[in-house]
Amino acid sequence: MTGVQDPFPASDFDDWAETYDQTLREPAAFPFDGYDQVLDAILRRANPQPGQSILDLGTGTGNLALLFAEKGCRLTCTDFSQAMLAKARQKLPGASFFLHDLREKLPSELHQPFDHIVSAYVFHHFDLDQKIRICADLVRNHLAPGGSLLIGDISFPSQAAQETFRQSIPDWEDEFYWLADESLAGLEKAGLTADYLQVSPCAGVYALRVG
Ligand SMILES: C[S@@+](CC[C@H](N)C(=O)[O-])C[C@H]1O[C@@H](n2cnc3c(N)ncnc32)[C@H](O)[C@@H]1O
Repeated sequence: MTGVQDPFPASDFDDWAETYDQTLREPAAFPFDGYDQVLDAILRRANPQPGQSILDLGTGTGNLALLFAEKGCRLTCTDFSQAMLAKARQKLPGASFFLHDLREKLPSELHQPFDHIVSAYVFHHFDLDQKIRICADLVRNHLAPGGSLLIGDISFPSQAAQETFRQSIPDWEDEFYWLADESLAGLEKAGLTADYLQVSPCAGVYALRVG
């Protein structure tokens, strides 16, 4: 990111780490309307077995990773915010942690196949081309046979659905929210097999595997 101002710098998330879990306990509202259901949908879709290896990207304070740890999985967690990782470490004493910017290739220590790669509420910081590039690399190079990449995030079925939803949100902020119709088409064009489940009015889960 040298020479270009990062619109979503790690320092923003360092500042948020202390109060992040508190934000989630507030009454459900955009963008976290359906947060628990999204994490649960990822878990159910993975159907994790004890001992499986899980890579959680942009783990934040570790809420998604914790659900998999409770199922007996081995967790590797990444984030580009040191403060978020420090919070996650407190919840997940048995996990491995890596400071990593998802826009960069995975570090060599993580060049091993994972049974599932998961991520929640992170990819809406990347435009569609970046999303597809990152997903293609993860699915092709970092999944064990039969594994899946499961991404829960702020997402709408289409641009029209986003526009309708947006009317109800007074302090709407434009980010790269997923639009399922164009995202699925782009992923398919890149040779990936993907399906999508709308979980709440503003969030859903993408499941990707090698086509
Ligand atoms: C909204 S929080 C979601 C945290 C967690 N996955 C959850 O579901 O609660 C977004 C997280 O993504 C991380 N993040 C944002 N951009 C990132 C990037 N480019 N590389 C790695 N982590 C990133 C932030 O530091 C933050 O921890």
